[in-house]
Amino acid sequence: IQISDNWPGYSLDLFTYPQHYYGDLEYVLIPHGIIVDRTERLAKDIMQDIGDNDIVVLCVLKGGYKFCADLVEHIKNLSRNSERFISMKVDFVRLKSYHNDQSMQDMQIMGGDDLSKLTGKFFTFCKDIVGTGRTMKVLLHAIEKYNPKMIKVASLLVKRTSRPDGYRPDYYGFEIPDLFVVGYALDYNEYFRDLNHICVINDRGKAKYRV
Ligand code: IMP
Ligand code: MG
Repeated sequence: IQISDNWPGYSLDLFTYPQHYYGDLEYVLIPHGIIVDRTERLAKDIMQDIGDNDIVVLCVLKGGYKFCADLVEHIKNLSRNSERFISMKVDFVRLKSYHNDQSMQDMQIMGGDDLSKLTGKFFTFCKDIVGTGRTMKVLLHAIEKYNPKMIKVASLLVKRTSRPDGYRPDYYGFEIPDLFVVGYALDYNEYFRDLNHICVINDRGKAKYRV
């Protein structure tokens, strides 16, 4: 799904959202229900591609936790209601790259079980958003040395950035304009993760939660 640059979004007055964010947002870019429905379809696509193989779902925290939880839930439902039984393991890694709304150079990978256990396995990364793609490249590089049988990347969002080195995930929910978005676990300095919809933050919100 492509959201064009001139898409005005939905007025905040049409939905409910936490009172503590009143005045901090510009508009709703993607309502929560559409996120969940689109994720169901991604789950179906992933199921189709992995066939009878067991998978490891690797959630990239913190921003990926909502997408990952919903995706895993959909895969479980589809698998339960079909002839095919897919066994799934879930693990979590954490990366930190953002300060305010600028992509940072340094990146730290933390957590996760012994990654060498991933040798010979099929697995899917679950990510909130691919911006420049730098984060994903670092992660893939770190994982490839364990020789997994297959790596797929699922990102809820892909940002249309002006940068040309454009990394594309295998599965993504929405391609969005080059805007800073929050909600559905995506944060601005740890705020807005408790917002259901994906929204565009306004200048007042940025100033209020700047560190
Ligand atoms: P990349 O390395 O530029 O692709 O950035 C990836 C990471 O930056 C994501 O995993 C997010 O944590 C963060 N990020 C990028 N764009 C946004 C945004 O619009 N809102 C919130 N976080 C973002
Ligand atoms: Mg973040």
